[in-house]
Amino acid sequence: MYFPEYRARRLRQSDQLRRMVRETHLRVDDLIYPMFSAFGEKIKKEIPSMPGIYQQSIEHIVAEAKDVHALGIPAVILFGIPETKDAFGQDAYSDEGIIQRTIRAIKDAVPELLVITDVCLCEYTDHGHCGVIKKGDVDNDETLKLLAAEALSHARAGADIVAPSDMMDGRVAAIREILDANDFHQIPVMSYAVKYASAYYGPFRDAAESTPQFGDRRSYQMDPANRLEALREAELDVQECADFLMVKPALAYLDILRELKDRFHLPLVAYNVSGEYSMIKAAAEKDWIDGDRVMMETLVGMKRAGADLIITYHAKEAAKLLR
Ligand code: PBG
Ligand code: ZN
Repeated sequence: MYFPEYRARRLRQSDQLRRMVRETHLRVDDLIYPMFSAFGEKIKKEIPSMPGIYQQSIEHIVAEAKDVHALGIPAVILFGIPETKDAFGQDAYSDEGIIQRTIRAIKDAVPELLVITDVCLCEYTDHGHCGVIKKGDVDNDETLKLLAAEALSHARAGADIVAPSDMMDGRVAAIREILDANDFHQIPVMSYAVKYASAYYGPFRDAAESTPQFGDRRSYQMDPANRLEALREAELDVQECADFLMVKPALAYLDILRELKDRFHLPLVAYNVSGEYSMIKAAAEKDWIDGDRVMMETLVGMKRAGADLIITYHAKEAAKLLR
């Protein structure tokens, strides 16, 4: 296959040919749209660092959920901003909590739209950490009990999939156990298996009002420099019977997506996080890049790296372009 006999450009000559040899396809079915449900009424507040993304009260969430469903997007993932926060994040596992009420409202209005819930405590604790604080650090095993209670409460409210994002050891097993003990054998666990301590979460923490009030998350989220540790984390979650594995963030970790895809046989999710979204939006606003094209190239890049599904704030815009 040497030049001039082989010419790679032969297969790039026309749109038809390029379509025929295209290897990776982004589909509406691959997209999951994140939403921020805020306590109260008549709230629709745009997040300054995330143009087009809102904190909204339940009636607005339901209206947007209908749009999401009409666009053909199969699922949303919910984050909550509760009325009150406390040291133990009680709203997170209360049957009248913000997320529980949001799940019921969405399932009532758009039953076919799958509702995934983020299972974590940082949006509900006054200190902003993802678990219970003991001796200045998050206590792993105490936190597991609360996460399990939170996942169960989401399932009771009608959640279709629960997605723990806390990075405590043993949480997938703890959640699987409590769900099975309560007849929720059919509720899948989408594990944020590989979650790095990332500066790319900055805009999300404004959106969810979940910035830690002291310290940082490095004693539970992963060091961005580590690859073998990612494989260990994924392996543990497979043993604990996770149904999906996730890598988060996505853009700076495409190599990790590829490694997980090659080694494990569960559906793989990429979380295209808030800071990745904000960078594209900001550069597009300045007319420095073509926002739509950069968005589609970024999303297809995540799929090419091995993602089966992508959680993305771009989901609605991408779905419109894919129609
Ligand atoms: C909660 C959680 C976070 C994100 C998803 N779930 C924030 C964090 O861990 O600080 C980040 C999502 C994003 O940046 O879009 N643990
Ligand atoms: Zn958290």
